[in-house]
Amino acid sequence: MLNFELYNPTKLVFGKGQIEKLGTLIPAGAKILLAYGGGSIFKNGIHQQTIDNLKGFEVVEFGGIEPNPHFETLMKAVEIIKAEKIDFILAVGGGSVIDGVKFISAAVNFDGNPIDILQKHILITENAMPFGTILTLPATGSEMNSGYVVTIKATQEKLASGGSALFPKFSICDPTVIQSLPKRQLQNGVVDAFTHVMEQYLTYPHEGYLQDRIAEGILQTLIEVGPKVVENPSDYALASNFMWSCTMALNGLIAKGVPTDWATHMIGHELTALYDIDHARTLAIIGPNLYRVVFETKKEKLAQYGKRIFNLEGTVDEIANEAINKTVEFFHIMGIDTKLSQYTEDYSKTADFIVDRFDERGWKAMGEKQNITLDKLKAIVELSY
Ligand code: NZQ
Ligand code: ZN
Repeated sequence: MLNFELYNPTKLVFGKGQIEKLGTLIPAGAKILLAYGGGSIFKNGIHQQTIDNLKGFEVVEFGGIEPNPHFETLMKAVEIIKAEKIDFILAVGGGSVIDGVKFISAAVNFDGNPIDILQKHILITENAMPFGTILTLPATGSEMNSGYVVTIKATQEKLASGGSALFPKFSICDPTVIQSLPKRQLQNGVVDAFTHVMEQYLTYPHEGYLQDRIAEGILQTLIEVGPKVVENPSDYALASNFMWSCTMALNGLIAKGVPTDWATHMIGHELTALYDIDHARTLAIIGPNLYRVVFETKKEKLAQYGKRIFNLEGTVDEIANEAINKTVEFFHIMGIDTKLSQYTEDYSKTADFIVDRFDERGWKAMGEKQNITLDKLKAIVELSY
């Protein structure tokens, strides 16, 4: 097993009705920026519940953080925080609102031009403004990690960053919030979390036996509850297992001591930046084709996955190939299309565009073996058309 350090200071407050604890989780006397998205929290009552549990605090509201949050929007919040002398941020929303708040938290006290945090991938290890979250969409794991992804609208770049100072102080995860989610977002959540596990699991055989078993447990739980929770989000057993699986998929635990990949995400982010395709759907488009192109690197682990998750039998190559097919089948069962041409007609130059972009950024060797070179990148994207 590789050496590792585990640091995760987020206090997770999980379960029905836990929003009632909100007032006890925020430092007394804090002046709060309540940040949210496009308004779903007004329709499902979460805004009211939040306000009801913030009695005695001074609250300034900032709405309009869009899916795949924009740098340009977030900078408006930074200005408000400075003008209003805010000292705590509360994110109420899905991954986009939480990610947006992480960037705001990083940018407020940043000594320099905040766009550099994104474009120069500056990790924030101190001086971040403290924030907490109320999660409304299980998917990203952002409620219990220190990473975020922000889009610069002006340049059509979707860039990931983070840093140890950007863990939420607390996250309230009440599984009943998923009842108001559109089917599409429930589908997205399952497939995003599934792919998070795959990025940290589907590499090559190693000595992190426990990490593998935890990862496989999350995959099996998502396969078990995913299709059902989409049909019945008010079933608490389904909702709570779905939500907890999503958090566990990306709170850092299963990545410890093992190699990780993340190339599916790096490529997928480009599809969102270019065509505004939902994050999870970009992963379903790219992931299986990436496994096909770097089959030789991943086949041993694909075979383990095929045996343990889908009970497949045969040679390593046979099981590994069939395991990819089963993955695509699962995405289809989840109602997710897996070809780029099903999302846009304008795809023919995508591979060249992404190759040029990664070349400019110096991203010439990705994946756990650093063998996803630009020619392989082109093959992966072309196979995804
Ligand atoms: O904006 P509102 O009106 O709130 O509506 C949102 C949005 O339209 C809606 N929604 C959220 N909770 C709801 C609800 N509608 C009804 N009822 C509720 N309870 O859902 C829509 C999508 O929300 P969004 O936050 O964009 O979705 P998600 O949580 O999937 O987040 C996606 C973003 O997270 C990033 C992605 O790249 C993308 O930008 N990621 C962040 C990661 C991280 N921080 O670790 C990892 C992930 O890989 C991912 O890259
Ligand atoms: Zn993701």
